[in-house]
Amino acid sequence: MDRIAVITLDGPAGVGKSTLAKQLAGKLGVAYLDTGAMFRTLALRLGENAHLLDSKELSKRCAAFSFRLEGSGSKTVLLCNGEPIGNDIRTEKAGKMASLIAAIPAVRDCLKVLQRKIGLETPLVAEGRDMGTVIFPDALCKFFLDARPEIRALRRVHDLKTRGEEANLQEITEAIRKRDALDRGRAVAPLKPAEDAVIVDTSDLDIQNVLDVLMRHIGEKAMAIRGFRD
Ligand code: DC
Repeated sequence: MDRIAVITLDGPAGVGKSTLAKQLAGKLGVAYLDTGAMFRTLALRLGENAHLLDSKELSKRCAAFSFRLEGSGSKTVLLCNGEPIGNDIRTEKAGKMASLIAAIPAVRDCLKVLQRKIGLETPLVAEGRDMGTVIFPDALCKFFLDARPEIRALRRVHDLKTRGEEANLQEITEAIRKRDALDRGRAVAPLKPAEDAVIVDTSDLDIQNVLDVLMRHIGEKAMAIRGFRD
């Protein structure tokens, strides 16, 4: 299989994917694609009851959206229909709405085409739930990040408070459990590691430790490919 210049980072909510994807992209000098942001943006723009629409209508509405990336590393900007996406997508409510539409094949099919197109045009670090399994099965290097739910809840509370949002640890822990169940249990593109993914438990590691692990694997992979070609 010909490999494409994409590194995939998959894993559950609150595992640190976004921070890691940004920093890894910065180190590699490529753009990063936050696919959760694409689901969140669609969820907000399609509105609260979008998950109740029939597939044909949803496909039609999804076709009105396009996405592209500008810049690289932590300065990467995701644009929807030509406009940078806003911070309104970062609330817990938007996350829950995203999870609901993310279980619908019509929505996933639409975003799959758009995500794949971006990955074929630009070298990327792509983060989400199904990057290694469905969208980029031919990625150069795949990682699945995990952490204990209570650690992920603590990190989420910290993130929300830093952004000035109210956050209750017990509520966030419960929300994370529910979202995990939805993301892992859905019929289409469930959250799971690709067979050839490197699994990294980040519970007891800080960002720098995880980055070191990822960079070591990427370095080894690049050497193996070079050796294979020589
Ligand atoms: O990573 P996040 O919290 O921004 O993702 C929001 C929701 O979108 C999450 O509950 C699952 C869904 N999602 C998905 O199903 N597939 C992706 N590739 C990315 C996100």
